[in-house]
Amino acid sequence: MKKKWIIANWKMNGSRNLATELAAAAKQSSRAGAEVVLCPPFTLLMHVEGLVRGSGIHVGGQNCHQEMQGAHTGDISAAMLLEAGCNYVILGHSERRQHHGENDALIKAKCEIAMASGLKTILCIGETEAERKKGKEREVVSRQLSACMPRQANSDNLLIAYEPVWAIGTGAVPSTAQIQEMHQHIRKEADGFTVLYGGSVKSSNAAEILGVPGVGGLLIGGASLEPESFAAIIGAAA
Ligand code: PGA
Repeated sequence: MKKKWIIANWKMNGSRNLATELAAAAKQSSRAGAEVVLCPPFTLLMHVEGLVRGSGIHVGGQNCHQEMQGAHTGDISAAMLLEAGCNYVILGHSERRQHHGENDALIKAKCEIAMASGLKTILCIGETEAERKKGKEREVVSRQLSACMPRQANSDNLLIAYEPVWAIGTGAVPSTAQIQEMHQHIRKEADGFTVLYGGSVKSSNAAEILGVPGVGGLLIGGASLEPESFAAIIGAAA
């Protein structure tokens, strides 16, 4: 059986102490065989990489710039993430799209530079509540997929995360039927790619969502910051 992916997106949260606790919890529970990726804030990347080195747990960034280097105050390049010990980078997250004006063309450029630099990409897509109310959820993810998908993408260097925007950090979770329907749709458009689900995943619903046909793993925000919950979610995948 294919291993399930458990990806922790800490967003702008965490400290050295919490990172140490979370890395320990992840190491303890991941023996059984989920593919775990921890995505802490940039300042904790090297700390976390040192903690998980040799354990099989991967480290990822939460964003990168679309250029290799240059005069971009406050930004970080894919090569810098790689040098800090990352193998992965999350791109296209709805919080970047909403609060930092990132559009599909920019996200595609970021995916391309990430891949050219040797990082694997976790590409986030998903509809807003208004788009779902209008019945446009499939249309939206299809557009995002075709506009963001880099030329050199393959099933080894890119994971797709389906994250309905209305489910992120809200406690609202689509029904298993809705998750299955969207995953089927995405897998039809992006044949062979692993598709993860993200949005209000908790230890209480992780096993059920992981059991939905077509779900290759989970992208977790809030619950990835609680060592016990996170360990339980990894346990559900193993
Ligand atoms: P959440 O966030 O688990 O807190 O809903 C998920 C995400 O934004 O990736």
